Amino acid sequence: MGVLKEKGPIEYSKGLEGVIAALSSISAIDGKNGKLIYRGIPIEMLAKYSTYEETAYLLLYGELPTKEALEKFSAQMRELRVIPKKVEECIVELPPNPHPMDILKVALAHSALYDPDRQKCCREGVMRKVIRIIAQLPTMIAYYHRARTGQEVIPPDPELSHAANFLYMLHGKKPDEEEARIFDIALILHAEHGLNASTFAAMVTASTLSDINSALLSAIGALKGPLHGGANERVLKMLDEIGSPDKAEEYVLNALKEKRRIMGFGHRVYKTYDPRAKILKEYAEYLSDKYNDRKYIEIGERIENIMIRELGKKGIFPNVDFYSGIVYQFLGIPRDLFTPVFAMARSVGWAAHVCEYTANNRIFRPRAYYIGPDYVEYVQLEKRR
Ligand code: CMC
Repeated sequence: MGVLKEKGPIEYSKGLEGVIAALSSISAIDGKNGKLIYRGIPIEMLAKYSTYEETAYLLLYGELPTKEALEKFSAQMRELRVIPKKVEECIVELPPNPHPMDILKVALAHSALYDPDRQKCCREGVMRKVIRIIAQLPTMIAYYHRARTGQEVIPPDPELSHAANFLYMLHGKKPDEEEARIFDIALILHAEHGLNASTFAAMVTASTLSDINSALLSAIGALKGPLHGGANERVLKMLDEIGSPDKAEEYVLNALKEKRRIMGFGHRVYKTYDPRAKILKEYAEYLSDKYNDRKYIEIGERIENIMIRELGKKGIFPNVDFYSGIVYQFLGIPRDLFTPVFAMARSVGWAAHVCEYTANNRIFRPRAYYIGPDYVEYVQLEKRR
């Protein structure tokens, strides 16, 4: 039979490393020098001057908005934060134990059924669907958290920014300006990152000409894993397990000896310090001092020094997930919501890539190189042993 086996050299990249699968003008990563730009603008500038709403506009529409355009876009986001009553009723009835990332899938799938633009595939209709999802994910997360902890849900406040409103819906009190701003910056830093696993998952689904909700559901499923967005929650678990800075050395060296991964380190593209982690570390430091609670930051810094000493030459440095958890912890965000918060921020990057790719679509369909047997005879069931 042999015909099924391919001959000659093959090109194979495990995990698609280095494979260029799309052309994009949304963001670029310089993994050697630790640089990241959104639509050409360095993230340091966005973290300093922009807001999540403005960055979302930039990513979706390709340019910074004018004052009027930003006002219109922000107003639309605020208006769309309210989730359908049926979805609210469903969320508050969901069991309290599943991981909130699984809840997010249920809530997003459910809300898609009530989307007034569900049947629309014109650009305006798709954009409204996208903005609706970006606006509603925070409401879904906050409602679920309030309900599972036996508290009344807090409806969104149209007076508040995207970041401040999430903290308000979660805690039932308006955050101070500084905390809202730090959270806003964290959302900006998580908004987009090229063809990471979850974005690619969204693009694969969308490339079949499925709908945007299905694409973002694929993305949420991919983000949940500990090698991707699920790492942030595990970083805090590790810091707790270690307990104090003087125990970090033994913990890390043991983990490396046993070939276990240290969460929040390493990256497929960055072979140096992740620029997002640099900014988040500054805020983790700042909040640790502000609250006079340096336990986590000190363990974190000790781990960072050991990891860079041991694996820096291999290009292993802190990634975005290493210090984000410390920041979130000080903002009162429960640990199992760290990854959902990542999802609500990244929803804009997912949507931007889906829109960009499908505008000039071709279905994703890679191949596997067959390494199984050439020919196996079919044995009748009664003769099998
Ligand atoms: N701890 C210990 N060793 C590591 C780590 C780590 N965190 N990351 C990579 N390595 C080692 C790995 O063992 C391998 O060593 P060797 O060549 O001796 O076998 C080498 O570095 C290359 O690793 P890889 O798995 O081939 O790298 P990758 O590009 O396939 O994986 C990664 C990238 C992010 C999945 C990986 O670095 C990792 O598992 N990190 C921990 C989980 C994590 O923090 N994920 C968040 C990623 S950034 C934000 C996001 O995407 O959500």
